[in-house]
Amino acid sequence: MKAVARLHVAIRVSMFCVMSAGVVLSGSAVAVAPEAAFSEDGMVASRSALASEVGADILARGGNAIDAAVATGFALAVTYPSAGNLAGGGFMVIRLADGTTITNDHREVAPLAATRDMYLDASGDVVPGRSTSSHLAVGVPGTVDGLLDVLERYGTMSRREVIAPAIRLARNGFPLDLDLARDLAAQLPAMQQYPASMAIFSNSRKDGQPWQRGDVLRQTDLARTLELISRKGRDGFYRGRTAALFAAEMKRGGGLITEEDLAGYESVWREPVTGTYRDHQIISMPPPSSGGVLLVQMLNMLGAHDLRSMGYGSADAVHVMIEAERRAYADRAEYLGDPDFVKVPMAQLIDPAYAKQRFADFNPLKSSRSSEIGAGSWPAESPDTTHVSVIDKAGNAVAYTTTLNLSYGAKMVAEGTGMLLNNEMDDFSSKPDTPNAYGLIGRAANAIEPRKRMLSSMTPTIVVKDGKVLLVTGSPGGSTIITTTLQIIVNVIDHGMTLSDAVSSPRVHHQWQPDAVLYERRGLSPDTVKILSERGHQGLTEWKWERGIGDANSVMAVGGGFAGMADPRNAGSAAHP
Ligand code: DON
Repeated sequence: MKAVARLHVAIRVSMFCVMSAGVVLSGSAVAVAPEAAFSEDGMVASRSALASEVGADILARGGNAIDAAVATGFALAVTYPSAGNLAGGGFMVIRLADGTTITNDHREVAPLAATRDMYLDASGDVVPGRSTSSHLAVGVPGTVDGLLDVLERYGTMSRREVIAPAIRLARNGFPLDLDLARDLAAQLPAMQQYPASMAIFSNSRKDGQPWQRGDVLRQTDLARTLELISRKGRDGFYRGRTAALFAAEMKRGGGLITEEDLAGYESVWREPVTGTYRDHQIISMPPPSSGGVLLVQMLNMLGAHDLRSMGYGSADAVHVMIEAERRAYADRAEYLGDPDFVKVPMAQLIDPAYAKQRFADFNPLKSSRSSEIGAGSWPAESPDTTHVSVIDKAGNAVAYTTTLNLSYGAKMVAEGTGMLLNNEMDDFSSKPDTPNAYGLIGRAANAIEPRKRMLSSMTPTIVVKDGKVLLVTGSPGGSTIITTTLQIIVNVIDHGMTLSDAVSSPRVHHQWQPDAVLYERRGLSPDTVKILSERGHQGLTEWKWERGIGDANSVMAVGGGFAGMADPRNAGSAAHP
């Protein structure tokens, strides 16, 4: 079995990419797409080469895509601590080779003691940082329950078999590559206040200095937690030692989560959101994610427009996509929330007739204005979530997105467990029409209530053509997740791109509020920017964060096998048996 992270980038291109340790941190898409991996025997694409190899090894040993996705998920908690997790949440979209489709929602929930205004001060203003950088930011985690449920229902291997590689990686450690060493170093200032985090993610033998490339990161507490899960199943996490340590950490820092919260957590099986786009079936995540609903809604609006003849990156194509995004994200703020608590008008939102009516005022030559309500800001902090795409040779497919919310979540390890805790509570609307870390605004539908799930943008998606899986995709990136996923689908279906081009090509993002268009470097030519601006688009801004928008590790069926493509904006890899 070999991991494939070959990045054939023209020398010309590397001049404007930051090359490190075989990693392309491109700042924006590369002009010449790296080559995708190819295999007839299945494929795993994730943000971590070690985790992709774990998944590929499971496939090589006869496991199915579900076994591989679960094993990769547990491995990511060890090898990609920025977003891989035990104490976070995620969504998994599954399509079995027999055509069965289902999703597993293991999103975090608000603790029982949570209240609607818990992030507001006495004057009713949001207290900065309380929903992102405090013990109050932590939601009751769902990942372990979800992964174990999925394995039990659709996997073929035992819990022990799929968790063993993660335990090994945690206990024996693994040498840090430059990407992870740099990433951890950048987190240390925020981790200083949490000794349990510093004990793991800095070099305590060297006075808490950053780990260096080549140092071996061992996570013995995490190995022990994983062992408990391996032996006892969900009780190894939601009850007993792990739960007691988790609750003790909360008590110490003024958090709300109790052992009762943990024992009561349950992941939920939900029917996927589905739609049709130019003879392709779209299968994606329903609420409490907004991803699938917005994706289908936007594709419905775009269906009547000939993007292919407009051409990739043309002002016309970008304009029509922005206008679809503006309308869909405006609906998100008003209607979307946890369907177990609020009535989400799903059928209406994904109805092609609704899209037609919603887009009736579309003017091909003039931009519309986002509503005046609310004012967002772009994330100041590098966010993190991570997406895994898996397909096996029988055609079973899994799209899995998982997160701690922002990079390394609340940056806080629950002492004794080795686990970083999420700060997912920030995805609730702390106050109506007040932007969260992604500049997203929400209202009553996404207000905080005990046991409620916070609204998400995660969009794990499977595209089916003629009864067979064509594409498995999704991305991190907070509010940009949905538009990244949309662009990959449009790149493949409308622009006929290869997987590597579809994933690598520059991205453009609009989310209604703030009324601004973000584009990756060289994502829009100067004359396209000029045309869009003449049509009335506001806030055309080049994306500054060096890694670009999204991280869409994807797989696609191609000529008798499967292509696998790790997003060249980051250091992931596609691996196969
Ligand atoms: O669920 C959501 O929409 C966010 N918590 C996702 C966070 C994310 O994508 C961060 N990644 N880059």
